[in-house]
Amino acid sequence: MYPLCEDKTFLALVKKFYQGSLNFSLQPDDIQQMTWTWQEKFLNHTFNNELIKKYPVNKKFSRLFLKKLINFIESSQEIHDDFYSQICNLMSSEIDQDDFYYRHYVIGNDFNNTIIIKETKNTVVNGTTGMKTWEAAFVLSDWALCNKEFFKSKTILELGSGVGFTGITVTKLCKPSLFLLSDCHNEVLNTICDNIRINFHQLNETEQADVIYFNGEESSLGVTMLDWNDIGDMPQNIVPDIIIGADIVYDPVILEPLCNVLDYFYNKNKELEVFIASVIRNEDTFAAFLKTLDSKSFQYEELQPAKSIYIDWDHSTKICLIKIKRK
Ligand SMILES: C[S@@+](CC[C@H](N)C(=O)[O-])C[C@H]1O[C@@H](n2cnc3c(N)ncnc32)[C@H](O)[C@@H]1O
Repeated sequence: MYPLCEDKTFLALVKKFYQGSLNFSLQPDDIQQMTWTWQEKFLNHTFNNELIKKYPVNKKFSRLFLKKLINFIESSQEIHDDFYSQICNLMSSEIDQDDFYYRHYVIGNDFNNTIIIKETKNTVVNGTTGMKTWEAAFVLSDWALCNKEFFKSKTILELGSGVGFTGITVTKLCKPSLFLLSDCHNEVLNTICDNIRINFHQLNETEQADVIYFNGEESSLGVTMLDWNDIGDMPQNIVPDIIIGADIVYDPVILEPLCNVLDYFYNKNKELEVFIASVIRNEDTFAAFLKTLDSKSFQYEELQPAKSIYIDWDHSTKICLIKIKRK
């Protein structure tokens, strides 16, 4: 199972490994404690952990992670034999075919709240950007976890869910009554279903009106095709209290259809609240989005999310979280 211990450096490093991040550095004091026994414990919680074996992290990343760790500690510590055997195993395996792998996102420092996501590191796969978790998803989820009560017992619709990190995290920890994840790409929708099955074990699966439901006692999830360009084919029997979206404002062509979707759901529920987190890659595209909102009688307010309270995200990325309401 996941580690339980007080050693902050150990936990931070295990967390980086689970999340597929090479962004770590070690101080001489940290290295002093990384004895053979420490290394063995690290291996038990990472490479030899049953969940990591079942849902492995990216192989190339694992090799680079071990090499980096060895580089830091080899001048002060004897290196555990298993570190080298792991590197050899990784070098002899089929690294190039490692398109899909798993990331284990630890929420806060509680390893029992770990979200496992099957995803790829590729920006575009089969014509969709939805096969990896994007930075805005971390910001939106972190903010939602800081506002758990707001989401509790609500019906939430997510637009452009991608592999499902936000929906799964919010459902697990904020307990909405229904969280409906949506996207326009079949492979993305199948991956969302895989990820729901990995992270929730006792949900009863049913299908109704083009929505796959995963029914739980307190919260249920739904997965459905929802293409913003197809306003005539919105899910009929869903009336969301809240709509959320992460990194869905990036293509000038979809700004109008996206705002039409918001309009459609506002017409079903005048109390609807919408929260969208966007990485600002192109100021003009984001400005055009705000202008389109304005032209459709929406107003917006920029929120200032606290930084990495439960979920680590890159504070150097320019990300804007807005709340949208009818004027
Ligand atoms: C950059 S990804 C963001 C995925 C996820 N929200 C995240 O932040 O990790 C954009 C997502 O929007 C979806 N998308 C793009 N155009 C869409 C459309 N017309 N209708 C519905 N979803 C769309 C893509 O399939 C993709 O999953």
